[in-house]
Amino acid sequence: MIYLDNAATSWPKPLQVSRAMDAFLTDVGGSPGRSSHRLAIEAGRIVYHARELLAELFAVNDPLRILLGPNATYFLNLALHGLLRPGDHVITSSMEHNAVMRPLRYLERCGVDLTVLRCSKQGELNPLEVTRSIRPQTTMIVLNHSSNVTGGILSIAQMGQIARKHNLIFLVDAAQTAGVWPIDIEKESIDLLVFTGHKGLYGPPGTGGMVVGEHVKCDAMPPLILGGTGSRSSEEEQPDFLPDRYESGTPNTVGLAGLAAGIEYLFDKGIENIQHQNAQLTAKLHGGLAEIPRVVIYGKPDFTSRTAIVSFNINGLAPSEVGLRLDEDYNIMCRVGLHCAPAAHKTIGTFPIGTVRFSLGLYTTDHDIEQAIMAVTEIARSVK
Ligand SMILES: Cc1ncc(COP(=O)(O)O)c(C=O)c1O
Repeated sequence: MIYLDNAATSWPKPLQVSRAMDAFLTDVGGSPGRSSHRLAIEAGRIVYHARELLAELFAVNDPLRILLGPNATYFLNLALHGLLRPGDHVITSSMEHNAVMRPLRYLERCGVDLTVLRCSKQGELNPLEVTRSIRPQTTMIVLNHSSNVTGGILSIAQMGQIARKHNLIFLVDAAQTAGVWPIDIEKESIDLLVFTGHKGLYGPPGTGGMVVGEHVKCDAMPPLILGGTGSRSSEEEQPDFLPDRYESGTPNTVGLAGLAAGIEYLFDKGIENIQHQNAQLTAKLHGGLAEIPRVVIYGKPDFTSRTAIVSFNINGLAPSEVGLRLDEDYNIMCRVGLHCAPAAHKTIGTFPIGTVRFSLGLYTTDHDIEQAIMAVTEIARSVK
């Protein structure tokens, strides 16, 4: 089987990930921060270790500024619902995932003013447009670090400077880039960085989080969920300190054990090496597909500033038909359709049918790419 759906969720995971999860369930099992016996303390150590690794990955000084929870969607909702009030103005782009777009459209109905900046057909956002749309009521800029449709990387450092200059909160959706692209929250002036654990970080599903930068006033961002944290148990009020203010309920310690192992594996390989391998394989895939008659590829063919995603269509065939044939006839797994990002497809001109998306991962080989190109060649040839 050839798995080219790593942008949905990475697979397979490094063996170390399932081993760490197994070891937690078999040998540890305690509830972190809840009890004081040695198993609970060991569980707490595992959670803190995951925070430390994430802090190192994103160049965060204090691991307690890393909030952990179920996925990126949860934390995007926390930030957007927590910080935007009726009358506030927020700027975003037309390449966003519905994890950003749906909460924003909901908030718009509640009186938040929303500007969705139209990106180019290749998915690029003009920084001048961002600056031009800032008004006195603007409080936040929220942008995707990389589109899950085209793989194009946004220059977040440039956008971060604009946000900092105008004293706006800069919220970055790094669901597609955490683990595959270097991110430094200080250098890139990011206030809130949301990541998910099950894609480029090679953790299991059900893990994710958010980095809270020093400029964010947490008293202005109420938690989405309140409850037990294991801390200040004598009090009926929610703790006001990080990360407990936003981490009520028993955490997914088994998932975090796996996430920590995934990040350690990435550190061993080196993010730059992963970037290099992705760029090479993506260029090879792009080049091969581009030579096939009837194939149209989307996004900018610049392999130095994109993740390992190639979205394409075969003229005359629906993406769903192509996906079915890749699965049934060639044993190739990919994702077809709108990828939870209808606005992005409207931008690149593929709404409502969407595209076929190949997304590569740590274990994608040259042979996988050759097989994928051969399969698309044969499918395209069969179009009457
Ligand atoms: C760009 C982007 N943002 C947000 C998400 C949501 O991530 P999760 O499903 O882990 O919450 C995804 C997942 O596909 C994504 O690609």
